[in-house]
Amino acid sequence: MKISASFLKSENIPRDLRKLNDTDVDFIHVDILDGKFVPKLKTMPFRQMKHIYEFTSKRLDVHLMVENPKKYISKYATLNTAYITIHEEIEEVEEALSLIHSYAIGAGLSIKLETPVERVIPYLKDLDLILIMGVAPGRGGQEFEKEAISKVKELRKVLKKYHSKVLISVDGGVTDVVAKKLKEADILVSGSFITEEEDFQKQIDLLRK
Ligand code: DX5
Ligand code: ZN
Repeated sequence: MKISASFLKSENIPRDLRKLNDTDVDFIHVDILDGKFVPKLKTMPFRQMKHIYEFTSKRLDVHLMVENPKKYISKYATLNTAYITIHEEIEEVEEALSLIHSYAIGAGLSIKLETPVERVIPYLKDLDLILIMGVAPGRGGQEFEKEAISKVKELRKVLKKYHSKVLISVDGGVTDVVAKKLKEADILVSGSFITEEEDFQKQIDLLRK
């Protein structure tokens, strides 16, 4: 089980990224909001954000909650990025996935709580990762919705049926209690459960247990 740490709710991003650098966390999860995919919610522009990544040597796991991902993909492709994940609910999904692959970066597809698992099937051959949302996109610190557990189990069955090696990631509201119910997942994204405690490594260990 790999852990990807989100800093969306962090109050001091440089400090928290430095602290995460001293843990065994696998990825830094970068949430990007454009004010459109989730109305009114917008994260800092890339020209500011790019300096923040100087505080980490961990690979980035970028989650684009944006309507038009192309410009974000080309920017984040210049950093130490392992995965870029877009949303199934936007237009031109295939074009965005092939743009991600053109940079030799892992391509991910995310589905919101209300989006059925079967919607990822047409894209399976173009994917490295599927991200199941455990909360509504937008804010850190929300409570995990239990229906995501059955979606993860259903997705595992789908992947077996299609002999697919695509990774399953779960994002939003992931705590140690939730993690125990997500054994079928390959990557757990967790934000406030890690960054709102003093000892980050202890929280990461609890998620891996
Ligand atoms: C929600 C984001 C998540 C979130 C995770 O829109 O995509 O990545 O920040 O943070 P927690 O673990 O606090 O829900
Ligand atoms: Zn996210």
